[in-house]
Amino acid sequence: MWNIRVEKTAEPKPLPAADNPLTFGTIFTDHMFIVNYETGKGWFDPRVVAYQKIELDPSAMVFHYGQEMFEGLKAYKSAEGKTLLFRPDKNIARANRSNDRLCIPEIPEELFLEAIKAVVKTDEKWIPTKPGTSLYIRPFVIATDPFLGVRPSNTYLFMIILSPVGAYYPEGLNPVRIWIEDEYVRAVKGGIGEAKTGGNYVASMAAQVKAHDEGYSQVLWLDGVERKYIEEVGAMNIFFKIDGTIVTPQLNGSILPGVTRDSVIQLCKSWGLPVEERKVSVDELVKAAKDGTLEEVFGTGTAAVISPVGHLRYETEVFKIKEGGIGEISQKLYDTITGIQLGKIKDELGWVVEVK
Ligand code: COI
Repeated sequence: MWNIRVEKTAEPKPLPAADNPLTFGTIFTDHMFIVNYETGKGWFDPRVVAYQKIELDPSAMVFHYGQEMFEGLKAYKSAEGKTLLFRPDKNIARANRSNDRLCIPEIPEELFLEAIKAVVKTDEKWIPTKPGTSLYIRPFVIATDPFLGVRPSNTYLFMIILSPVGAYYPEGLNPVRIWIEDEYVRAVKGGIGEAKTGGNYVASMAAQVKAHDEGYSQVLWLDGVERKYIEEVGAMNIFFKIDGTIVTPQLNGSILPGVTRDSVIQLCKSWGLPVEERKVSVDELVKAAKDGTLEEVFGTGTAAVISPVGHLRYETEVFKIKEGGIGEISQKLYDTITGIQLGKIKDELGWVVEVK
């Protein structure tokens, strides 16, 4: 049991107006969680304080070598007024796998969960209730040693900030257009592709800017060696329904092991659908798109939830999927996952954790 001090702000901010679209990641709540780390001392002084700017030395290692880890999960308000989290244990376990890869000290699981609960409880009035909205929880760790040599830091800050959000994409649940990238690569096996860290996201930006300029929302990455196999879409994992089978790239060391990805696999299996986690080549995808067996494409992620894909571009061709509309499985998964998250559908798999 960690003794988390809660210092409430004397100046709470007004809540967003009812008609605020809650554009992803733009509004922050009244409080944040923070805990310090020092080698030899461990994690100390966990506290919930007013959301505020932090002071860092310009030589803090995170600014120079990117030693940082982040996570993303959400809190929901049920119709009965309960505050619910979705599979926080999965995010906590993944955070510590990322920490391990990035030479960041492990965060005790109980501290992590208690910290999430403490800050969410403090700001629970910020959880939006309109359909399609939630409170996005962003835990992150940064290396703070003032030092320009390359080695792991001896001091860190672990923080959690909260943001009421609507849909990640301006399209909402409407299908997005995806650009299959054949010039840049995001990650390679043995690198940091399966860790959740800023470096993977900055690596994706040049391709994303190029794709945006061409009218596409996101980039679908191919493997970094052969540029042949499908990996993921930066902000989400990717699924295909090919001739009745749900197919997704297998975790291979350079793909983020998504919590929504795992939930989708479990749900589809529980519905009796054939599910395959395996290598998927871009050639197989193009062939399926051409012969009509590519029945659905959708992305999965905490921020993106289930995001249907209406168009896929590869080299000089653009493929329209489901006539650019939403597929039945995408819709059913969206309804089921958000239903469980909001406490509307029975949580048979034990995924929901109440914040009391
Ligand atoms: C999430 O889905 O929580 C993510 O971290 C993706 C992020 C890039 C918005």
